[in-house]
Amino acid sequence: VSIGVRLIDRADAPTLAALHAACFTSAWHADAFAALLAQPGSFALLAQPASDTPAMGFALLRVAADEAEILTIGVVPAARRQGLARALVQAGAHQATDLGAKHLFLEADAANTPAIGLYRSLGFEQAGHRRGYYREQSGTLSDALVLRAALPLVLK
Ligand SMILES: CC(C)(COP(=O)(O)OP(=O)(O)OC[C@H]1O[C@@H](n2cnc3c(N)ncnc32)[C@H](O)[C@@H]1OP(=O)(O)O)[C@@H](O)C(=O)NCCC(=O)NCCS
Repeated sequence: VSIGVRLIDRADAPTLAALHAACFTSAWHADAFAALLAQPGSFALLAQPASDTPAMGFALLRVAADEAEILTIGVVPAARRQGLARALVQAGAHQATDLGAKHLFLEADAANTPAIGLYRSLGFEQAGHRRGYYREQSGTLSDALVLRAALPLVLK
């Protein structure tokens, strides 16, 4: 099995929106992805588990000066735990490094065990803790963690 990750452009905004909707409860419209991709320093990636399968994971990142940020990332439930997200973060970190970024940041719900596990496995460290930052659908508040990794990403 060889995971494929490729850079995409604004024309693929509908694919990003469809994958995002399969991963998150609050969907982002394709126009929102197209607008984000029109901004300087923004780029998006799609991941497919093999060359003959459709894209099942996506990531959207932005580089500003020497800092990069993962704005959103997801893998559809049926394709999880196969290394797609890890491949997306690695490819995103590589592209961000090429664009001049020295650090890669992201924000995750402290209760999002898969996401925190993913970033920890890639060497990200906690750079901040925002209490009561997210409001769950139930109305309860949950904390956000800001995680950071130095670029280029060095795998341990
Ligand atoms: C978080 C998410 C992107 C991970 O995608 P994935 O393709 O399944 O992740 P990978 O297979 O690349 O996993 C890489 C590592 O992350 C960690 N990890 C992933 N899923 C995990 C889980 N359910 N529990 C614990 N650790 C997990 C593991 O360390 C894993 O390595 P391993 O499989 O060798 O043990 C996916 O669960 C998802 O889309 N969730 C919903 C959207 C979301 O929360 N996005 C992140 C917002 S910050």
